[in-house]
Amino acid sequence: MAARVWTVQNQKGGTTKTTTATNIAACLATVHKKNVLLVDLDGTQGSATDWASARSDDAPPVPCVIMRENIKRDLPRISAGYDYVIIDGVPQISTLTSDTVKIADLVIIPVQPSQYDIWATRDMVQLVKDRQEVTDGLPRAALMVARAIRNTIIERTATEALHGYELPVLSAKTYQSVSYLNGIAEGRSVFDLPASDGARDDIEAVTLELLEMDK
Ligand SMILES: Nc1ncnc2c1ncn2[C@@H]1O[C@H](COP(=O)(O)OP(=O)(O)OP(=O)(O)O)[C@@H](O)[C@H]1O
Ligand SMILES: [Mg+2]
Repeated sequence: MAARVWTVQNQKGGTTKTTTATNIAACLATVHKKNVLLVDLDGTQGSATDWASARSDDAPPVPCVIMRENIKRDLPRISAGYDYVIIDGVPQISTLTSDTVKIADLVIIPVQPSQYDIWATRDMVQLVKDRQEVTDGLPRAALMVARAIRNTIIERTATEALHGYELPVLSAKTYQSVSYLNGIAEGRSVFDLPASDGARDDIEAVTLELLEMDK
């Protein structure tokens, strides 16, 4: 069976695309025991690539490849044998970005709960909607509130503002936490943290919602 392709995209920089992509990949590999391939579209920065190559042998492997062009042509061959391909996007809208949306089954758009970030996400949302219009609503897509600060008014108002884009907004969110920073140098994810760590629950909840959407 062909791999399911999920891509984490937002043309705004620093919206947690890489953190979200690596942790979702780790969740699918660790919790759901899937064969997962990471694809790094940001070969210049190479963050997902660095994370994957630093990953120690005792963790379920999540290999990563850099793709700069021809993703429509090459991904079917590269993804053979994998259950999931998680694509870490670039902070720009380009041919590579729109080609990736075309081949994806699911587009995840992380947005920090700040009005500037919400405004800056407009073009990404439009790109997805334009594609959905010509392909019967595919790929499925969801906005995800990222790095929220718990129990703040802005957490609520930003979530409401995101609904204005008329794309699904995941009910699971990620929160501001050092849990995402610890262990990056060793290619670790939140699933290497104690079971009591809230970031694990958040990524698991995000992943479950995405699995449900991708049925
Ligand atoms: N939930 C979180 N809590 C605290 N810090 C976070 C969280 N998620 C990500 N970060 C940090 O925020 C910064 C930006 O995250 P990340 O690199 O994942 O974003 P990005 O969208 O991939 O950026 P770029 O657009 O440059 O590719 C990084 O330093 C990362 O470690
Ligand atoms: Mg990145």
